[in-house]
Amino acid sequence: MIRLDAVTKSFTSRQGAAPALHGIDLSVGEGEIFGIIGASGAGKSTLVRLINLLERPTSGDVSIAGRRVTDLTGRDLHALRRSIGMVFQHFNLLSGRTVARNVAYPLELAGQLTKAQIAEKVAALLARVGLSDHAGKYPRQLSGGQKQRVGIARALANDPKVLLCDEATSALDPQTTGQVLDLLQEINRDLGVTIVMITHEMEVIRRACDRVAVLEKGRVVEEGPVTSVFLHPAHPVTRALVREAEGDAALVATDAAPGLHLRLTFTGAGAHQPLLGRIARDFGVDFAILGGRVGHIRTTPFAQFSIALTGGNGSAAMTALRAAGVTVEVIEGAAPTFAPARVERQFHVV
Ligand SMILES: Nc1ncnc2c1ncn2[C@@H]1O[C@H](COP(=O)(O)OP(=O)(O)OP(=O)(O)O)[C@@H](O)[C@H]1O
Ligand SMILES: [Mg+2]
Repeated sequence: MIRLDAVTKSFTSRQGAAPALHGIDLSVGEGEIFGIIGASGAGKSTLVRLINLLERPTSGDVSIAGRRVTDLTGRDLHALRRSIGMVFQHFNLLSGRTVARNVAYPLELAGQLTKAQIAEKVAALLARVGLSDHAGKYPRQLSGGQKQRVGIARALANDPKVLLCDEATSALDPQTTGQVLDLLQEINRDLGVTIVMITHEMEVIRRACDRVAVLEKGRVVEEGPVTSVFLHPAHPVTRALVREAEGDAALVATDAAPGLHLRLTFTGAGAHQPLLGRIARDFGVDFAILGGRVGHIRTTPFAQFSIALTGGNGSAAMTALRAAGVTVEVIEGAAPTFAPARVERQFHVV
């Protein structure tokens, strides 16, 4: 649906050219919720502005739905822009317009519908985002979450194929963030809209995205399905983002625990199997749990434990765990990469 090929972007100032993006290759599939995560200044907003054609790349190509957009002009550019909805961190509502008239605004600009058709469409959009009772209110009379719902309804007004969300939940509290992320997932599911979500929070990625790209200093440093990036982050920047999402509590010092140190990852239905006890009995091994995290990635349950295995037949136990679909990693050195979780439950053995 969206492709970036070797895209670079530099901004020129009196100090000379400052590169903001270096050779970005990205591909977002139709109907996907794709996350782009990175620290402040990583280039996230620059990247979305290239997708919604507010900026042109210094080099490289951007294509949307199979069309190279980098050299579109005039009416074609207009039409393409209209097929891309945008949701902003600070909502960007017009304070002098009611909720209904904010949502009507892009329809008025497009100039293709009658007044009655616009009214009907606005009513349907407000129903979709759960704001039918607030149509006549002004933005100042709404909560942050309600304002963002207006922003989402407005972004959907011209039936876009793509929705770009730049830090859409960053101004909201955690509960409201959850509700807005649920709404975006519902829209993705019901309307098939492809969503690109920009965020600095791994929590947003975990809850809502199918795939993720990690951006650092204008480069994609890691990319993949959220389950693998979240459970097995490879790049130090990704690890730091996961650790931040999981809280700062330190693990038990694993070098103090005797035995073979393993990290076990269970996902899907496997997360609920009573496997460890059976393995311990079958292979005569004992284990101490050193740390771990349990939670969901979107709707997929996962459990990840660091254990120290002693006695019995360790390598046969590892083989049996792998055969049961568990990802088994041998932990080298002093401590596993992650602090245990704030995610839903927490395990500590001291
Ligand atoms: N219009 C511009 N002119 C000059 N430099 C710019 C411009 N827009 C962005 N930059 C620079 O490009 C880099 C990336 O900025 P960008 O806004 O894309 O980062 P970001 O990841 O969205 O950060 P944040 O999380 O703070 O929003 C920064 O170094 C920024 O200063
Ligand atoms: Mg930004």
